[in-house]
Amino acid sequence: MAGRGAFLRSLKPRLTREPSLLRVLPRFLQGAAGQIGYALAPMIARGLMLGPKQPVILHLLEIPPAATALEGVCMELTDAAFPLLHGVVATTDPDVACKDVDIACFIGGFPRKAGMERKDVMSKNVSIYKSVASSIEAHAKSTVKCVVVANPANTNAYILKKYAPKMDKKAITCLTRLDHNRMVGQVAEKCGVPNTEVDGVIVWGNHSSTQYPDVNHGTVGGKPIREVVKDDAYLNGDFVSTVQKRGAAIIAARKLSSALSAASSVCDHIRNWVVGMEGKKFVSMGVVSDGSYGITEGLVYSFPCHCKNGEWSIVQGLDIDARSKELMETTHKELLEERDLALSCLE
Ligand code: LMR
Repeated sequence: MAGRGAFLRSLKPRLTREPSLLRVLPRFLQGAAGQIGYALAPMIARGLMLGPKQPVILHLLEIPPAATALEGVCMELTDAAFPLLHGVVATTDPDVACKDVDIACFIGGFPRKAGMERKDVMSKNVSIYKSVASSIEAHAKSTVKCVVVANPANTNAYILKKYAPKMDKKAITCLTRLDHNRMVGQVAEKCGVPNTEVDGVIVWGNHSSTQYPDVNHGTVGGKPIREVVKDDAYLNGDFVSTVQKRGAAIIAARKLSSALSAASSVCDHIRNWVVGMEGKKFVSMGVVSDGSYGITEGLVYSFPCHCKNGEWSIVQGLDIDARSKELMETTHKELLEERDLALSCLE
């Protein structure tokens, strides 16, 4: 759990003239999850999150036992001499880490190990998220945009929202772009086309094995995915289970959680939210439900979203067939159960 430890160090921002200088908090944590932060920091510093012209200051938070490892990361960030990196704040104090941040990526959590379901890490992680909620609410910019990555991501985001009641509900999201990108990758491989040819896929629900990866509104080279793939048994069967279980398959193979794909998807999530859609039809984002598509208001559920001027909105009016409705309901039910379990862990 994040401790309120000592301030480690601050590489003073060298240039503070830019009015648009953004402070990004990719919250680090020790162990397997720390790998996402290690992959993410250079991606942000290279402009993959906020574009090639946007200078950034990285705020790096670690728990006290990993403070020395964080010092090592700071040395590497200095040594890489990234042109866009205008400063680093490295600390074990969540209040210092959250101070004035524009973007907060909540990577840290108790990592899931082989054989564990997301629910198994629930009690450890929801208390971490309850405690960081007050820091982000009190110290981040009022316009901060948050993405929760640590599992159970949707429910951690729900807890963050619940314990930061003054924050705008639209500021708190969770990452399902990783699953969305997994869908794109699978369809592109199946069709032998570049990833850029695949658009309009949707992840509904939880970032878990109950999620519903929906291809019904998607296209390959502008044509419906089902028409191009011509294999509904695959699209309704192996394709769905491959995407649903991809995180577990990576843990089994690497003995560690996904890191490079997770970090890259965090960049995609924030970039499309902040900068725009880059021509995409939808992006999947875990957002606070407003009741759309019959999903309980307040739950953090992955929907197809459209982003404009730094705001996301849930894409409305899509035709949902009976099979999809059932699958959307299964993952909805799991999220209701997770919410109740999380709240009971915090009582
Ligand atoms: C993933 O999807 O790769 C991560 O969320 C790791 C996990 O626990 O599945």
